[in-house]
Amino acid sequence: MAKHAIGIDIGGTGIKGALVDLKAGVVIGDRIRHETPEGANPNDVVEVVRKMLAELPRNHSSVGICFPSIVRHGVTLSAANVAKDWIGLDAAALFSEKLKRHVHILNDADAAGVAEIKFGAGKKIKGTVMMTTLGTGIGTALFTNGELVPNCELGHLEIGGVDYETKAAYSAMERENLSFETWANRLQVYFSTLERLFSPDLFIVGGGISKQHEQFLPLLTLNAPIVPASKRNNAGILGAASLAYKISKN
Ligand code: BGC
Repeated sequence: MAKHAIGIDIGGTGIKGALVDLKAGVVIGDRIRHETPEGANPNDVVEVVRKMLAELPRNHSSVGICFPSIVRHGVTLSAANVAKDWIGLDAAALFSEKLKRHVHILNDADAAGVAEIKFGAGKKIKGTVMMTTLGTGIGTALFTNGELVPNCELGHLEIGGVDYETKAAYSAMERENLSFETWANRLQVYFSTLERLFSPDLFIVGGGISKQHEQFLPLLTLNAPIVPASKRNNAGILGAASLAYKISKN
C-alpha cells in the first residue's frame, strides 16, 4: 500500500515542500520552493504554505511541517531567525485551522535527523548520533539507538561567552566572507565541544552547504566519523512527512 505524506520545510530564507513516498524515502514529483516572506511573520508564512499546498498533489495526505524553533506539542517556543510572534504560538492549531488540514509540526533539525536515521546516513547506526544542520542557524538533533531526544538546541551552545551559531552557522561564513579554511577552524571548535560533551558515535552534517562537504569536512579532526547528510536539502521535508504519516496512523 502506498505510504504518502506531504512535507514542508520552513526556513529563514526559503519554504520548500513536496509529496513524499515514505516507503522509498524520496520526494515524488517536483519540489516546490518559495521565498520566506520578509520578517517571517506567522500570518505571512501560513499564506505561503497555503499557496504551496494548492500547488502540490491534491489528495488526503497528512501534512508535516518543520520549523526553525523549539516545538513542543505543536507550540513554537523560540524564534532565533524568525519573527518573535512565533514564541508561545500554537502553530499546529494555526496551520490546521488556516489550511483546513490536520498539520503536525516539529523542529527542522529534528525532522532532518529523523530522515537521515530512517532513510539516510544514520540508517542502522547503533549508539549516539548527532545530526547538525549548517544554514541560517545551526540546528542539532540527538538520537540514541534511533530514538530522538527532541529540541536539543545545541546550535546556541555558548563557547567563549558567545552563542556559537553566530560564529559557525553557514550564514556567518557568508556574512563575514570567510574562506572554507577559516570557517572550518570555527567548526572544529564547535564539533570538538559537542564531542567532549556527548561522545557521539557519528556526526551527520546537513544544510544546503553540505553539498560542498569535500571543502570542509576533511579539514576537521574528531574521534567520531563526520559524514554529509545523504538526503541533503530534502531531509527536513522527508522527516516532517514521516512524522505526519506516523501520527496519522496511530
Ligand atoms: C534554532 C533552532 C533551529 C536551527 C536551525 C536555530 O537558530 O534555534 O531551533 O533548529 O536554528 O534552523
